[in-house]
Amino acid sequence: MIRRFTFGNPIPTEAVVLNIEKRKAVPPIDESIAVMDGMAEIKRTVNGFIMKMRDEDIVYGLGENVRGINKRGWVYESNNSDEPKHEETRKSLYGSHNFIVIAGEKPSENYGLFIDTPGKVRFDIGYSKYDELKIEVIPADGDSEDYTSELNLDLYIIEEDTVLKTVKSFRGLVGKSYIAPKWAFGYGQSRWSYMSSDEVREVVKKHRDNHIPLDSLYLDIDYMDDFMDFTTNPDTFADFKELVEDMRKEHIHLVPIIDAGVKAKEGYKVYDEGVQNGYFCKDENGEDFLVGVWPGKCVLPDMLNDEARAWFGNWYKVLLDLGIDGFWNDMNEPALFYSEKRLKKVFDEIGEYKNKNLDVNTFFEFSELAGSIANNPEDYKSFYHNYKGQKIRHDKVHNLFGYYMTRSASEAFKRLVPDKNILMYSRSSYIGMHRYAGIWQGDNRAFWSHLLMNIQMMPSLNMCGFLYTGADLGGFGDDTTSDLMIRWLSFGIFTPLMRNHSARGTRRQEVYQFDSKSMDMMSGIISLRYRLIPYLYDAYTKACEQDEMMFRPLGMDYPSDKDARRVEDQLMIGDAIMVSPVYTQNATGRSVYIPENMTMLRFKGAELVEETSLTKGHTFIDMPLGEVCIFVREGKELKLADAGAEYVEE
Ligand code: NOJ
Repeated sequence: MIRRFTFGNPIPTEAVVLNIEKRKAVPPIDESIAVMDGMAEIKRTVNGFIMKMRDEDIVYGLGENVRGINKRGWVYESNNSDEPKHEETRKSLYGSHNFIVIAGEKPSENYGLFIDTPGKVRFDIGYSKYDELKIEVIPADGDSEDYTSELNLDLYIIEEDTVLKTVKSFRGLVGKSYIAPKWAFGYGQSRWSYMSSDEVREVVKKHRDNHIPLDSLYLDIDYMDDFMDFTTNPDTFADFKELVEDMRKEHIHLVPIIDAGVKAKEGYKVYDEGVQNGYFCKDENGEDFLVGVWPGKCVLPDMLNDEARAWFGNWYKVLLDLGIDGFWNDMNEPALFYSEKRLKKVFDEIGEYKNKNLDVNTFFEFSELAGSIANNPEDYKSFYHNYKGQKIRHDKVHNLFGYYMTRSASEAFKRLVPDKNILMYSRSSYIGMHRYAGIWQGDNRAFWSHLLMNIQMMPSLNMCGFLYTGADLGGFGDDTTSDLMIRWLSFGIFTPLMRNHSARGTRRQEVYQFDSKSMDMMSGIISLRYRLIPYLYDAYTKACEQDEMMFRPLGMDYPSDKDARRVEDQLMIGDAIMVSPVYTQNATGRSVYIPENMTMLRFKGAELVEETSLTKGHTFIDMPLGEVCIFVREGKELKLADAGAEYVEE
């Protein structure tokens, strides 16, 4: 059962596809909205909702976020952010996924909440008071951050017999997830700083020479001419078309990045056309709003304006025509390194400190000034969209920008190449975008804790419809180590997007860059991925088509099992298997909870070396580096492809 309560005049997000009738009367402040079967009552507050939680309640959801599978004990904020520090202290990452399920000890005691609003939402999940869940919304006028204003949102309350059914019902509400092509389940190699087509050819060759399976090679901003979208560098990538063709002969898909910011440069066609047609976001005076991103001075296409969106989407044709069939959309929170306005302000303020005697306080004020330039909240209040004919200030619809950028591409693919399934994923997102594309999990770092975060984020994202997803394997920022790379790959072989990506300036982490023993282990694990693709792709497409989760916490599959409910670091994948990845350095095994009798398959690289029956209960399993254990449920089978594939057969 889904109930919908509409408060005020919400800005439509187009997250929901079902037409659920609105409740006639919405409860006034302090009154009860709904009493959940066997659970708490949801009450309305001035600026949101409040409900009690019992000690044993688990809170699942919130998609892309830091911390555990059970979200209790922290405060999260939906506010799409270009956030390279995925630390525990963060409250927001790149996406806003306002769906949670509160699950009691009895399977039937559960309910889901979806707060549909494009602005900021704050979820205090037992942070201020352990037994209280408080949801607060930043006012629609956006002028104050004090969370005291009228509510303008749609609240959906979803109740079914089990958590999994509640999730399924929610997913029915928001529509079918995007299905990526099968080749996108192959291994992908990426790095920010493949500087020329020669280098790209070389990276591919090294994979092929070393028999490291590979299906895609990612092009970061360095393939562009001066970081301008839909261009290729005339010197370093002069043979771009030939490169695409040659790579295709090698069974490699090249996947270029597209950024949200368009370089403000006369003579650059994307810019000129956008200016002529008024397709860029405007400042309060109606001038194009100037921001700084990779290309320097940029403008932002008004992704919320239907006409501008269709126009931007058509530009992907330039690359489609060159044989490209996959893209990743970046910097679309949108990330603002600076705005022209803010730079001026900060320079003026810095000037004031010139003649001052710096003391402790003024020193910190001074040094914080420069740090306040990027992604400044004031900047997000300084530009406007033309949304369905209405002028809307950006901060009120902030969380929709990445969604609508990605939608622009996806809608264009349907018009331009209706018979092709194009790979598309984005950094920023909102629920609803899952119908158009997947996401990658952004700029993580070469930390063991970020491997755990990758594991824990998978089910939360799946709940919200994001099934084609994965993290930068090995870690994007900082220098990785061979053991972290091996362990991360050992988990990454299960995630739909399996991509090794790293930042400019960090240690090279292509598999062949490591010592030969480590390389062999990594290569063997990647080969195992190819043996798993038939199972994984089936599980994935089934989950997309049937509104289910491919990755699930044990507590969802075994809701009456107290031990299963507590597990935060094992996952059920598809309907046959469970995984228990190692995510601590120097560990040679780990404790595993076996929730029902299972068969453990042990792989050394791609080779199956052991099959052992395990009975329900707690056990310790040896898992040396280079070995992967997969647990198969009783009565189920894990279909494996033959070993030896170096790419996905299409
Ligand atoms: C930020 C993205 O998150 C990262 O993956 C990419 O490498 C850099 N931008 C450079 O384009």
